[in-house]
Amino acid sequence: MTAILTRRSEHFLADPAPSDEELTYLLRGAATAPDHGTLRPWRWILLRGEDRVVLGGCLADEHPGPASDRMAAHMLSAPLLAVLVFAPQPNGKVPKWEQLAATSSMTHSLMLLLHARGYGSIWRTGLLAESAAARSLLRIDPAERLLGGLWIGTPDPAGKRPRRPLEDVAHRISVFRAREQTSAGHV
Ligand SMILES: Cc1cc2nc3c(=O)[nH]c(=O)nc-3n(C[C@H](O)[C@H](O)[C@H](O)COP(=O)(O)O)c2cc1C
Repeated sequence: MTAILTRRSEHFLADPAPSDEELTYLLRGAATAPDHGTLRPWRWILLRGEDRVVLGGCLADEHPGPASDRMAAHMLSAPLLAVLVFAPQPNGKVPKWEQLAATSSMTHSLMLLLHARGYGSIWRTGLLAESAAARSLLRIDPAERLLGGLWIGTPDPAGKRPRRPLEDVAHRISVFRAREQTSAGHV
């Protein structure tokens, strides 16, 4: 509960970011998230240093304007950009939407694991999720879909991140009672 209530999307992140080895280790943990058929329908592409700038420039060239300027600036707002690729597997039993749900579960697990180790992250989509130029630069297969990425690094230790209160979700829960349905004439 502590990890859940203290994780926030971090817009500005500095060094250090996890090494490739540490990220791989955390991903092994995140991959245990619920995944119907254990298909692992995803992959990550890691960018650091100048390679982030190349991706930002590619987005800016494709759609010149404020949105791509913002995205290009975002590229430098964290030392590690982990681009998330949805790679649905042909499967007669597990439809694409379930595979997307598994990918999302894995990503949230990864964000929590990063947070528990003192790293911060933010999932951004925007232009990166829709860009044909980024697809080509990163060699995304036609059957795959870009889901944006996680910007990863270390949050400013002096930054104030108050623990969030638990949200009231009672109105989002209903209880089904078959007996009441029957007496109301629905069954
Ligand atoms: C699929 C997905 C896409 C997101 N895309 C963006 C984005 O493009 N830009 C952004 O600032 N935040 C993005 N976010 C982060 C949300 O804005 C953020 O989670 C939300 O504001 C709640 O903040 P919190 O994570 O600190 O609780 C995205 C989150 C998800 C799950």
